[in-house]
Order: sequence, then C-alpha cells, then structure tokens
Amino acid sequence: MRFDILTLFPNMFSSPLQESILGKAIERGLIQIQTVNIRDFALDKHKVVDDTPYGGGQGMVMKVEPIARAIESVKSQNPSAWTIYLTPQGKPFDQDSARKLSSQPHLVLLCGRYEGVDERVKDLFIDEEISIGDYVLTGGELAAMVLIDAVSRFIPGVLGSDRSAEEDSFFNSLLEYPQYTRPFNFRGSGIPEVLLSGNHSAISLWRRKEALRRTSSRRPDLLTKANLSEEDKKLLEEILKQEKREKAGHGF
Ligand code: ADE
Repeated sequence: MRFDILTLFPNMFSSPLQESILGKAIERGLIQIQTVNIRDFALDKHKVVDDTPYGGGQGMVMKVEPIARAIESVKSQNPSAWTIYLTPQGKPFDQDSARKLSSQPHLVLLCGRYEGVDERVKDLFIDEEISIGDYVLTGGELAAMVLIDAVSRFIPGVLGSDRSAEEDSFFNSLLEYPQYTRPFNFRGSGIPEVLLSGNHSAISLWRRKEALRRTSSRRPDLLTKANLSEEDKKLLEEILKQEKREKAGHGF
C-alpha cells in the first residue's frame, strides 16, 4: 500500500515512520511512504503558500494553487488514489475506518496548517475529511501519522506472519484485558493466580471477564456495539453484582 503525504513539514515524518513495526514494513516493501513538500509547488519565487483570509479575521489560510498542483502531481501517477484531508472538522476516525481504508491501494493525505486550507481545495480535490479526535492540533501531520499507523496494522504481514489487527480486542468492540509478565512479585504487588494455573480455558474465561469488566466501567458505549454471547451476558451480570456488593461495602 502506498501513502503520499502532502505537507509543509516533511521532516516531521522521517523518524517516527522509520522505527519499529512501520520501519520494518517499509523495508519489506509492504508499505511505501512518500512525503511531498507543498512549498515546492508554490507559484512565485518566494514560495508563498499562505495568505490572509477574504473577509478578514485572524491567521492565514493555505492557498489553493500550490495544494492543487501538489495533488495533481501525485495523482498524475495514479488518478484513482483516495485523497484525504486531515481536519478537526472531519469524520471521526476509528478502528473501522482504519480497516476500510486499508483496502485502498493508494492514499493521499493532505496536512493543513494555520487556519486550514482554502475551501475550494476540499470542493475540488478531497474525497474524504477525517478527524482523529475532538481537539485541535497545530497541523494535520500528527493526525496523518496516526492514520498511517492504524491503517498499516491491517495490511497482511505488517504485524508479522501470525498476527492481524482483525484479532485486536478493539476490533471486537471490547477493551483489552490486563496483561502481566515477570517478575511474579513487584514491590509486593503480585499477579492474578489463574494466570499461573496452566488451565487454558480458565485463563480465557478470566481474560474475557476482565475485558468485559474494563469495557463496562471505562467505555460502556462500546458494549452496545459488541457482539456479546449468552456467556458474556452472564459474565457481565456477575461483574455488575460484584460491583454492587463492593459499593455496599462488602468486598466478597
Ligand atoms: N488537524 C488539526 N487537528 C486535527 C485533528 N484533531 N484531527 C485531524 N486533523 C487535525
């Protein structure tokens, strides 16, 4: 899969994308990432890429021509590349969006700065606007990195031959269960006995219950989307009863 990132700050991408899992995925040719400096497509000799907003107001707006020329240059190699603008006004990004985007062979990611881009960029060149959360970043670059990371995890082979993002617990709409590794005792804090039992079905049951407990207390909204079995529903009832008892002051 190929990602082209249109940005005024291409250097921001060099280190984060070259480390660890994404770095290996690039080395192995599973993903290709190219940055395109929008400034290289400015029309004048001073390479101006922004201007004051029509109608007045604070800040600067990214000009339409350099962005248009940058997008056209990338799309001349592949006219059907799916073009995304990262903006807090976009559709909220989630695991499902990441999975769907991973089926695109080529994504073009436009990163805005300042007060954003001239509206005509969106009207004429953008297929989809995406937000990574309800907060405002200084630009779309970090949002693009988040998107690339989450999407790449769905590409076969990126997580290794025996793992896939389809198996992530979030993919099943539940939060992950607690994980432990050695030492057994850290400053007096131990680990749940069941994990040492070697009893795989007891361990699976404990993990499922803890995933349900965590989701129910931290993200109850996810439970409505989750595909809960009859056994899950029973476990949830047990969890809620246990919580009630604990609130009433009996810890048993
Ligand atoms: N650019 C600035 N803030 C952003 C956000 N929350 N999501 C996507 N792009 C952005």
